[in-house]
Amino acid sequence: MGKKKIVIAVTGASGSVYSKVLFDQLIKLENQIEAVGVVMSDNAKEVWQFELGNQDYKNYNFTFYSKNDFNAPFASGSAKYDTMIIVPCSMGTLGRIAHGISNDLISRAADVILKERRKLIAVVRDTPFSLIHINNMKTVTEAGGIICPANPSFYSLPKSIEEVAGTVISRVLDLADLEQQSYRWQED
Ligand SMILES: Cc1cc2nc3c(=O)[nH]c(=O)nc-3n(C[C@H](O)[C@H](O)[C@H](O)COP(=O)(O)O)c2cc1C
Repeated sequence: MGKKKIVIAVTGASGSVYSKVLFDQLIKLENQIEAVGVVMSDNAKEVWQFELGNQDYKNYNFTFYSKNDFNAPFASGSAKYDTMIIVPCSMGTLGRIAHGISNDLISRAADVILKERRKLIAVVRDTPFSLIHINNMKTVTEAGGIICPANPSFYSLPKSIEEVAGTVISRVLDLADLEQQSYRWQED
């Protein structure tokens, strides 16, 4: 399998630790990856500061794009990005994607991934869900996207918040067809 070009979008839902754990894992998997483009919403940066108490996303050696930069390669289908992971994905971003409102780079990149029939993975986070949220998840699923909720599992007996978040991120990496070492039920 060829190396992947991946877009990571971080939005303002709770759960910045999920994006941190994904960033850390992608560094380990760099031999499978050609490019990682990252775009963060304004609220994503605020929530990261609030929940993790730092701005460490600035230390990652990925290519960061401003949320209004429609010159980013993945704003067009011609750049042929394989996969987009939105982690965590707010209900606001989910709604914009479900309704084709491409008014920032995150919703435009998702629009492109769906129209090009490539892989969109949305790690949605809120609880409980309204019917509007559920219908938007249905719409994105019907359009070919994958809703992978930020619902951790506990059967691997995680011992830290990062390990709890890692139970979701390892499913995301599986969905993105990235080979990784992770806990597998009844195999370890
Ligand atoms: C600390 C904090 C936690 C939040 N958690 C959630 C959440 O879990 N899910 C959600 O949909 N929105 C959440 N929000 C609200 C979103 O940040 C807000 O709706 C924002 O406009 C979403 O836009 P974005 O997707 O462009 O970041 C939270 C906001 C804050 C400040």
